[in-house]
Amino acid sequence: MNKIIVAIDGHSSCGKSTMAKALAKTVGYVYVDTGAMYRVVTLYALRNRLIENGRIYEYALLQHITFGWVKVTFQLDPATKLPLACLNGEVVEDEIRGMEVSNHVSPIAALPFVRTFLVEQQQLMGQEKGIVMDGRDIGTVVFPQAELKIFVTATAEVRAQRRYDELIGKGEKNVSFDDILKNVQERDYIDSHREVAPLRPADDALILDNSQLTREQQNAWLLEKFNAVLSAQ
Ligand code: DC
Repeated sequence: MNKIIVAIDGHSSCGKSTMAKALAKTVGYVYVDTGAMYRVVTLYALRNRLIENGRIYEYALLQHITFGWVKVTFQLDPATKLPLACLNGEVVEDEIRGMEVSNHVSPIAALPFVRTFLVEQQQLMGQEKGIVMDGRDIGTVVFPQAELKIFVTATAEVRAQRRYDELIGKGEKNVSFDDILKNVQERDYIDSHREVAPLRPADDALILDNSQLTREQQNAWLLEKFNAVLSAQ
């Protein structure tokens, strides 16, 4: 059967990854979380003091990337079969989801050379199709030819609450709902207003506002769209 590319874009914490993972699992496709890749580069920059007091040492980061010192890869979790993000071979899934990385990732993701570096790798991953990729620019930049493009959104408050619940569930202390809401709103602004690959729906994307949907409802909605595209191939 023909394989397709599914591009899922949208605002932060709107449940893109949850629905993308569920679809990939159901239909046996590879799942790629591109946000994790920007987070890994941010972690590298933080660990190597290329971000200090909110300032990014862009030229130094460019050099580190050019010299091949920043390797962003995924390893399959043997238990869940889901990809785990790695920095230079080390699994960094937990660290990249914390507030420190979340607070610095948007300006890193706005750097053109970081985007070029990661988009190239994302395009290679999709060469064979059979992939569900989520991010901000998948339908507009990475795979403008994707057969199915979805743009997901939900109100900032609903998204902050989801993020809050997730962090508390992981046992993170010192999290405040207000800080998370502020972070979500700031990231929305930076992601939508940056010069390179701003967050916007592709002209032919299907828009899904999932503020009022359960996980099961959104998964069912996506599977239906997937089957419709596949049967029209
Ligand atoms: O989806 P996320 O919250 O993990 O994404 C982290 C950051 O990376 C967010 O600020 C948006 C940015 N990003 C991006 O610019 N392009 C992508 N394809 C994916 C994420």
